[in-house]
Amino acid sequence: MSRHEKDARWTAVDEFAKEHVIKKDPFDAALQFAAENQREGGLRDIAVSTLQGKFLALQCKLIRAKNVLEVGTLGGYSAIFFASSSPDLKVTTIEVDANSKAVAEKAITHAKLSDRIEVLLGPGIEVLPRLKEEVNAGKREKFDLVFIDADKINNLNYLNEAIEMSRSGSCIIVDNVVQRGSVADAEGALTNQNIRGAREVIEGAGKDSRIDCTVLQTVGEKNYDGFMLCYVK
Ligand code: DHB
Ligand code: MG
Repeated sequence: MSRHEKDARWTAVDEFAKEHVIKKDPFDAALQFAAENQREGGLRDIAVSTLQGKFLALQCKLIRAKNVLEVGTLGGYSAIFFASSSPDLKVTTIEVDANSKAVAEKAITHAKLSDRIEVLLGPGIEVLPRLKEEVNAGKREKFDLVFIDADKINNLNYLNEAIEMSRSGSCIIVDNVVQRGSVADAEGALTNQNIRGAREVIEGAGKDSRIDCTVLQTVGEKNYDGFMLCYVK
């Protein structure tokens, strides 16, 4: 299978669209700080793009989300985008790496969002069951939107946990399910965990009667990948 790498047109379109559709927002400076801060902090350049972050924020507005759960904080860029969508929105975000958590918390503090974004340290596979207990005990509200963007091999586990902490009408978005087209490569999945995780979550979602889903391929400055969008029935 051919590997699709950076195409100048994709970056040019992102630049064009960003220039025109991204309106001045009170969180612009905070988002720029977060992007620089995660570069300076040595984090990998794998955060969502600006246009993708805005897409996520708009999803929150569309469903009037109040409680967002994110698996995979990285430097807090997407968490700040979520929080920027409404002053009534709270983000709970899970990060496995203590350094990334510290980098994210610096950006969140700079954005003055510490009261609305909570970063929990630990592997999603351990933190999510604890969160679920809190939700089941009535100590925490169910989540309106869940963004799964962490270790890809656990995608399907995270999706299951997310469904159990969602209400009817909640939205779950899984990042990186296309893997530059390799998701369609069954053999690639034998040796690459990211491809396996992408395939498993699509296959699992298709069999799950609790959700309705689609997969959207995306290109742009972050190359060729895609989201899975799920509606919780
Ligand atoms: C990787 C992870 C991501 O969440 C992403 O958006 C892009 C790449 C990675 O692990 O390579
Ligand atoms: Mg991602």
